[in-house]
Amino acid sequence: MTTGYERTLVLIKPDAVHRGLIGEIISRLERKGLKMVGLKMLQLDQQKAAIHYAQHRDKPFYQELIRFITSAPVVAMVWEGPGAVGVVRKAMGATDAAQADPGTIRGDLALDIGHNLVHGSESPEAAEREVALFFNPEELVEYTRAVDRWITPPR
Ligand code: RTP
Ligand code: MG
Repeated sequence: MTTGYERTLVLIKPDAVHRGLIGEIISRLERKGLKMVGLKMLQLDQQKAAIHYAQHRDKPFYQELIRFITSAPVVAMVWEGPGAVGVVRKAMGATDAAQADPGTIRGDLALDIGHNLVHGSESPEAAEREVALFFNPEELVEYTRAVDRWITPPR
């Protein structure tokens, strides 16, 4: 990976899978210019969900969050680009979808904090941990897109 570039974990959550929004969400991140370097569909078990959401285990919404995230398949992806962690968080919008700005995934497509369609790593450190939880190193790819020079600064 080029220096200064980041990788971040994105989950398309069960509500988005049920609502047929997988393509819409992938398309938005693609059109932004980010590069997908990993992709799989899976259903989280209790153990993986508990590790992924460990920081929330004492919160009042924790049980419902675990029930929800394990209730149907998710699409797990790794996206790469300059500042990818923050770029994805901005593209997702505020956690409470009712408050999320128009133009964001949650702002345009969701209404509820518990049904907010996507997860994105909140920091580069969290991203490293979360990418490792969902992907083995050999499941991530490296490639150069001819169009990258029209998207990112010259090197
Ligand atoms: P995520 O981790 O899913 O990307 O979302 P986030 O960073 O924007 O929000 P976070 O604070 O990490 O919360 C994780 C997920 O828990 C649910 N939640 N429910 N009922 C509530 O008050 C509440 N607060 C958070 C949301 O689905 C949120 O995405
Ligand atoms: Mg979070």
